[in-house]
Order: sequence, then structure tokens, then C-alpha cells
Amino acid sequence: MQPFAEGGNRRCFIHPEKENRCLKVTVEGRAKILKQNAPWYKQLRSVESFDDNLREKEGYAQRALKKNHLNKWKHLAIWYGIVETSIGSASETELIRDHENNVAITLEKYLLTFGMTERIKRAISDLESWLRLTLILTKDILPHNIVVGDEDGQLILKIIDGLGSKSFLPIVNISNFFAKIYVERRIKLMHFRINQDLSK
Ligand SMILES: Nc1ncnc2c1ncn2[C@@H]1O[C@H](COP(=O)(O)OP(=O)(O)O)[C@@H](O)[C@H]1O
Ligand SMILES: [Mg+2]
Repeated sequence: MQPFAEGGNRRCFIHPEKENRCLKVTVEGRAKILKQNAPWYKQLRSVESFDDNLREKEGYAQRALKKNHLNKWKHLAIWYGIVETSIGSASETELIRDHENNVAITLEKYLLTFGMTERIKRAISDLESWLRLTLILTKDILPHNIVVGDEDGQLILKIIDGLGSKSFLPIVNISNFFAKIYVERRIKLMHFRINQDLSK
């Protein structure tokens, strides 16, 4: 079976039984290499703490996602948990597709191909409003960790990787005040990364 995509750390497969689910398997030995390359102050952490699937699990367990917010999944691939597969444990998530039912492309690819169209501008601003409203915490929001899905003919952005907060800021997990500052900063950096992609 071939992965449909591969990130820096995980290989992504279409679920063999459910066409709208994605299975992400950490590339073997990847967590160990990440640990070896980490700065000295992170060396005390266990190898497991470098596994992206466990990071993802924590990201989805954050406070903002425990609330019964009506739109909390609007810009996220839904998470179904960690499952065991024949090639290791996998993170099972909603597979995002475009209006032709193809697997959605990343925002990075979209920008490189089509540039800043009116449709994508609107989709980016929707994502921004949603981040401010829900205060869902993400690590840096990178265009290759967002995919461009479809909702009733409109483009809709979905974050597929990088959920959670940067580990050195535990306060943002408990305080709305600090979460707001944190989210604003992530939005600013997201625009910076988008402009970087546009200038490529
Ligand atoms: N739920 C999803 N729906 C559609 N495409 C996805 C999904 N999850 C991942 N992808 C694709 O797979 C690539 C790698 O996934 P990602 O979760 O970013 O892995 P990594 O942890 O290795 O960075 C993404 O850049 C994207 O192209
Ligand atoms: Mg990624």
C-alpha cells in the first residue's frame, strides 16, 4: 500500500476500509532521530515525547476542544484516536477532500499554483476569525500543515498538523487572556509564512 502523502515525520495513508479517513504512521526511528537532533535542554525527555502522533493526541485534548463549541471542528480534521495497524500505531483522522473528491492539496501548494485568489483570501480570513473565536491553540501555523477542502462549493481551510501549544508556554492552556495573545501571534506568523510562500 502506498502513502498518498508524506510529511517530515509521518506517512499518510487512505484508510483501507473508510475512504474518508486518513491513517498517519510515524516513520520508523523518526522519534529517535528527532530526539538526537534536539537541543540539549530537550534531551531529558523520553523518545516517545518526540513522536508526532502523541503530540497530536495531546493537541486534540486541549481545553478549547473540550468545550461544546458548535464550530470547533470547522477548520480541523476530526480526530478519531490512535489505532494499531500492521505497520505500527497510527493517528486516525478525517481525510479532507476537494470538490472533485480528490485528496485536498496543501495551502502551500495552492498558493504556489494559483497565488492569492479572492477565494483563498476569504478562506484564510475565515480561518483567522475562527481561531480568534475558539482560541484553539496551534503551534506555528505553516501552509504545508493546512489543506484546502471544500464546503458547499466554497474553499475551506483545515488544519491537519501542528495542533497544541508550544511547550514552553503552559500558561496559555489555562488563561484566556494569554491564549488570546498567543493566538494573535500565531495568526501574524501565519501571514508571514503565507507571504513567504507567495514570494517563492
Ligand atoms: N487529514 C488529511 N487530509 C488530507 N491530507 C492530509 C491529511 N493529513 C495529512 N495530509 C497530507 O499529508 C502531509 C503530511 O501530513 P502531516 O500530518 O503534516 O505529517 P508530518 O507530521 O510528517 O508533518 C500533509 O502535508 C498533507 O499534504
Ligand atoms: Mg506536517
